[in-house]
Amino acid sequence: MKIVGLMAGTSHDGIDAALVDIQGQKALRVKLLAFQTIPYSKPTLDLIRRASSPKTGTVDQVARLNFYLGELFAEAVLQVIAQAGLKPTAINLIGSHGQTLHHLPHPQPMGRHRIRATLQVAEPAIIAARTGTPVISDFRPADIAAGGQGAPLVPYVDFLLFRHPRQNRILLNLGGIANLTLLPAGCREVSGVAASDSGPGNMVSDELTRRMSRGRERFDRRGGYAEQGRVIPELLAELLRHPFFRKPPPKSTGREEFGTGFVDHLLARKRPRSRRAWLNLIATAAALTAHSVYRHYRQFYAAEFAADEVIVSGGGVNNRAMMRRLAELFAPAKVIPIDALGVPADAKEAIAFAVLAYESWHGRPGNLPGATGAGKRAVLGKLCWPLRCRQA
Ligand SMILES: Nc1ncnc2c1ncn2[C@@H]1O[C@H](COP(=O)(O)OP(=O)(O)O)[C@@H](O)[C@H]1O
Ligand SMILES: [Mg+2]
Repeated sequence: MKIVGLMAGTSHDGIDAALVDIQGQKALRVKLLAFQTIPYSKPTLDLIRRASSPKTGTVDQVARLNFYLGELFAEAVLQVIAQAGLKPTAINLIGSHGQTLHHLPHPQPMGRHRIRATLQVAEPAIIAARTGTPVISDFRPADIAAGGQGAPLVPYVDFLLFRHPRQNRILLNLGGIANLTLLPAGCREVSGVAASDSGPGNMVSDELTRRMSRGRERFDRRGGYAEQGRVIPELLAELLRHPFFRKPPPKSTGREEFGTGFVDHLLARKRPRSRRAWLNLIATAAALTAHSVYRHYRQFYAAEFAADEVIVSGGGVNNRAMMRRLAELFAPAKVIPIDALGVPADAKEAIAFAVLAYESWHGRPGNLPGATGAGKRAVLGKLCWPLRCRQA
């Protein structure tokens, strides 16, 4: 099948669209045909930011944004298909993660129930209508219905595509949030796979860079600011005392814990009065990511799992300060960008949602109870048909 996978992460940088060819049933063969990131414009970014916050998000905005993002996701699909030199009729299926507006993995009592919730938008009926292709979307709720946190979902794809007969591998994704999948050498069963969010990826560094540049820059390009600054050890130690880091997996997090509120708190603690002071904060944020990833591994997994390789994907591979510190911490294990395995680091998560759509299409479960805390495996997603249906 030719499938377009669509992902828009917590970094709010844009829509990732990957066109892949997937074959096979037990052993999958996945070939990337085209990939694009369509960046969000400033006004779109502002709409997403506003709609994501409980203080400013109102139901009319959320309702409209869902349909608007549906249009933008559909455009992303048509662009990546054109990039591959194909026609939309050549595509069998779309797998869309949507844009997360809110993720509430900790159960709260409501009536007689304890409720977890998550909300991803980008209306699939619009995507299906504009592209003439069936869409599987909204992958997270089925896992929540099975008792899980709905995230992370990429670990099952890591298991399918990246397990190795002789190497203990960690797959690390540095998006807005950082998450790890641990794949023991030779593992054949999903029960052997562990995965969890470890804390912030680029989110804290991005927000500090945005504030230092008064909104002109969205992230620390190549980690240049972090490399100019000096890590503040006391502050790093204090940040690492955040309760999220002590919680045992499975656990997932997002902007609710490490977004603007976290940075407000950090700046109130340590108000930067010079350019140098800002750079030191950005250096400390990059170190926070690397140390929280490493500690997560040491604290919860290292007793039974000695990593040979850490394979890194997501925009964070471009941040040299983060990658250097990870390499220092994990040595003698090797820290390798996933590009070395022939997968572009930016494309990995979009590819993963194409694979999850393929699995759902064939009626196979896509969650990993060890990663999300679900009591059962579940077939993920909801299927939405185009206006005039072709045979898929
Ligand atoms: N050239 C670069 N240098 C440093 N960081 C980068 C670069 N390109 C992207 N990034 C980082 O990657 C982030 C986007 O990563 P991505 O994997 O798309 O995360 P998400 O899944 O949360 O959207 C950006 O916000 C930025 O922090
Ligand atoms: Mg992104």
